[in-house]
Amino acid sequence: MTINPVFTDATPLSTVSPEEQFRDDVLVGLAASQKFIPAKYFYDEIGSDLFESITQQPEYYPTRTEIGILEAFGSDIASLLPSHANLVEFGSGSTVKVRRLLAHLTDLAAYVPVDVSESFLRSEAETLSRDFPHLSIQPVAADFTRPFTLPDGLSDGAVAGFFPGSTIGNFEPPQAARLLAHFGRVLGRGASLIVGVDLVKDKAVLDAAYDDAAGVTAKFNLNLLDRINRELDADFDRSSFAHRAYFAPETSRVEMHLVSLRAQDVSLEGRRFRFSEGETVHTENSYKYTIDGFRDLAAEAGWDVAKSWTDAEGLFSVHALTR
Ligand code: SAH
Ligand code: AVI
Repeated sequence: MTINPVFTDATPLSTVSPEEQFRDDVLVGLAASQKFIPAKYFYDEIGSDLFESITQQPEYYPTRTEIGILEAFGSDIASLLPSHANLVEFGSGSTVKVRRLLAHLTDLAAYVPVDVSESFLRSEAETLSRDFPHLSIQPVAADFTRPFTLPDGLSDGAVAGFFPGSTIGNFEPPQAARLLAHFGRVLGRGASLIVGVDLVKDKAVLDAAYDDAAGVTAKFNLNLLDRINRELDADFDRSSFAHRAYFAPETSRVEMHLVSLRAQDVSLEGRRFRFSEGETVHTENSYKYTIDGFRDLAAEAGWDVAKSWTDAEGLFSVHALTR
């Protein structure tokens, strides 16, 4: 059977190419009074590699903590997923986490990693297929915030979702609720969804996690300017921008910005954008939740939290959602 997602709001599949969308989004963001660029554009090939390096930094606790939760509770988590399921991972990145679940999901019908970072997605899928030769792996290069179709030829089995890494935190709460509802439509009736969510904690821990001493997060942030120069023929001078990241307790989010170190003009596609000294481009939000706060968000999107798990220090959480 072919499994096609049902879009109850009948959103048409986009006719705009990813390249045009990138250009349009950057032009809109740089024209705003608080300049911004959507965080999904961090992930070109270089950005995906830099993100992997971030996950190895001692200050960046989320990845190792979530892996610890998946290792400790993997069999419990897997027991909540239907048997012979097709497992769809949204923003799959390096697939390091799904490996912890695959160890307990020996009867999986197919694994469908979905990511915008196409070459990284394909190389990760190849590596995974060498390690799990009997698993059907069907990568989908797509923006998961937009309507997309699951591959033809998935089995009749149930569909379950996996959304680790607290990527949900990179969306404003109303958008995050819409995204969880959208995943519900993509996965279909009766689906389950496993979501990793970073938790509120001390500002000092969060500030350090997003401004590591080795400067890898700074490189990840600044690579956005290189990407815009490369792909949109802009003339950002990377050396006159600096990385800034801080936790804002009043909004419960880490904000990342690129700060202009001097007054300057940048041209892009025949348009000039003026930066005053100290002006910033807001490049990312990373919202931090409480367990109850995330449960409320999931409920808003039509999901029930069947079970939640955390590490002993309460740094990170994993939730099994059902509809
Ligand atoms: N799931 C992995 C990777 C998290 S990094 C982990 O937990 O470690 C976020 C991943 O989501 C990146 O691989 C990035 O390319 C992808 N991503 C971000 N926004 C996306 C979008 N809108 N659509 C599809 N993939 C996206
Ligand atoms: C992918 N996402 C959940 C990461 C985060 O922690 O918000 C991206 C990141 N940005 C800076 N460091 C990591």
